[in-house]
Amino acid sequence: MAQDKFMSDIHLEGYTDKYEYRQATADDSVFAGGRDIVSLNGEWNYAVDQYDTCIRQDWYKERKTDDKGFTLPVDYSFDEWETMELPCCWNTKAKEYLLYEGSMVFTRKFTYQPAYDEEAYLRIGAANYIMRVFLNGEYVGMHRGGSTPAYFIVTDMLKDENRIIIQVDNTRRPEQVPTENTDWFNYGGIYRDIEIIRTPKIHIKDISVALVPDGTFCSIRAEVELSAPIDTAAIIGISELGIKETIDIHSGRGAVVIEARPELWSPESPKLYDVEVSCLNDRVADRIGFREIAVKGREILLNGKPVFLHGVSCHEDSVKNGKALTDEERKENIRIAKELGCNFMRIAHYPHHENMAKLADEMGMLLWEEIPVYWAIRFTREKTYYDAHNQLRELIKRDKNRASVIIWSVGNENVDTDDRLSFMKRLADCAHEMDKTRLVSAACLVDGQENRIADRLAQYLDVIGINEYCGWYDPDFERLPALMKNSAPDKPVIITEFGADALTGHHGAIDEKGTEECQAYVYERQIEVLRDTDNIKGMTPWILYDFRCPRRTSFIQKYYNRKGLLSEDKSYRKPAFYVLQKFYNEMNENK
Ligand code: GCU
Repeated sequence: MAQDKFMSDIHLEGYTDKYEYRQATADDSVFAGGRDIVSLNGEWNYAVDQYDTCIRQDWYKERKTDDKGFTLPVDYSFDEWETMELPCCWNTKAKEYLLYEGSMVFTRKFTYQPAYDEEAYLRIGAANYIMRVFLNGEYVGMHRGGSTPAYFIVTDMLKDENRIIIQVDNTRRPEQVPTENTDWFNYGGIYRDIEIIRTPKIHIKDISVALVPDGTFCSIRAEVELSAPIDTAAIIGISELGIKETIDIHSGRGAVVIEARPELWSPESPKLYDVEVSCLNDRVADRIGFREIAVKGREILLNGKPVFLHGVSCHEDSVKNGKALTDEERKENIRIAKELGCNFMRIAHYPHHENMAKLADEMGMLLWEEIPVYWAIRFTREKTYYDAHNQLRELIKRDKNRASVIIWSVGNENVDTDDRLSFMKRLADCAHEMDKTRLVSAACLVDGQENRIADRLAQYLDVIGINEYCGWYDPDFERLPALMKNSAPDKPVIITEFGADALTGHHGAIDEKGTEECQAYVYERQIEVLRDTDNIKGMTPWILYDFRCPRRTSFIQKYYNRKGLLSEDKSYRKPAFYVLQKFYNEMNENK
């Protein structure tokens, strides 16, 4: 009875339980390079849905009458709603949405011409944090995780005329990854591309192509996974290397090692090759750089030679676009890092858009990529581990062919407890298992009591990241040389954070916090110590430019974290930028 149905909606407590299945995970991904893509970007109708009425009342069913023909009162008007240009962060679209946290419902209609014998994947580049997808009156599935792509096979649901509905909930929650407490802005929305990827029924699900990491730089390993467990053969072609090689496929998988001497990729010489893989009537393509990253004792080796990672940290944040940066903004960030003298960027604290790594491949910049296992995660909760594990796998599957990415980071600044150690070791093991061609790290805390690097997670990492704020949170600069003397880890250390807040144009004494002079002085003193510490093999000071942060409300911050070397709009370079640039330029000259 309609009345009963209506009444049940408002008393239903576990109203999300009915959507806790068909969670999209890394296993649902499909390789998209070189494929036929139908974009669903553009104008979507939307409504703010603070009380989750869309999923409480199953709006997606679009029921207009009950089974007796009684017209039902509906609480939505999909096609009469206001519109928003997707992808975007809703926070930057209207003043009233800046601080909105909760659910929004997005919908549009689109036509589609199904092809014979095809598979159609709906791919959503990222939505923060939970999304639930409905198509033509059916529940498609859901995804958790605010910075990695979701894939859903929708072949049998598509029609000539379609209605898609996506509900997005960016509420911060303690059990999520990250939790409800971070030091960055919690943007909401579907903020990366929405598209349909068209493939043959039996198709190439994934390819991995990389230099064999054996120190010889003379063989390439190509791996292919098909969508079905069949026996067949694939062909990999790298025409510039004169390669056209068969890959035998058994039960849907195959691999081959090919002798080749590619020009090695490096930041100074970012050589990329066009790679094609074909199988049956499918064909995919990618642009791949061949390089080797390794650790030998306390050295980091790029293509067999010791490298110092002179870097800088960077959030995915824009005054105008929130997390939905344009490619031009990403290119600008890389260009500024290069101007600073960097060969390395720490992409913090979550996976940025896949184009960041593609642009770094093209422009020549090494990257540290990270999942947001940040601060006080619920380390004892198995579903929280499952979410962190899935986000890590989604990141690795997405970016594993990117030469620029050299380090997977499994987290940032978690206190060293037994539960945390177990959780993070599992993640480090997962990264090592999935990818034998990269290093695994994390940004660890220093043991404040003993003033030394004592994080037990370090034994499971290839490179130890250390966040230290001598001269800012910790007044005593002398603790930094002592820290290094007290700690003699047998593997490379990267100082993943140091820095100081400075409001652009705010001047004063070098010991007056928040002034440009104080920030520059902190950089000078930090560099004085770090430059002479032999097992420091890199640094990514915090941070390239100021970024939105609800925790920062002082008169110099005004809801921004001001540790940027540039102002939030990147129009102004603070004096500390030139202190760091001078150090990096001297290093580059003395190489
Ligand atoms: C921490 C943390 C950053 C934060 C920074 C700060 O180390 O990793 O996310 O923004 O310090 O306090 O500014």
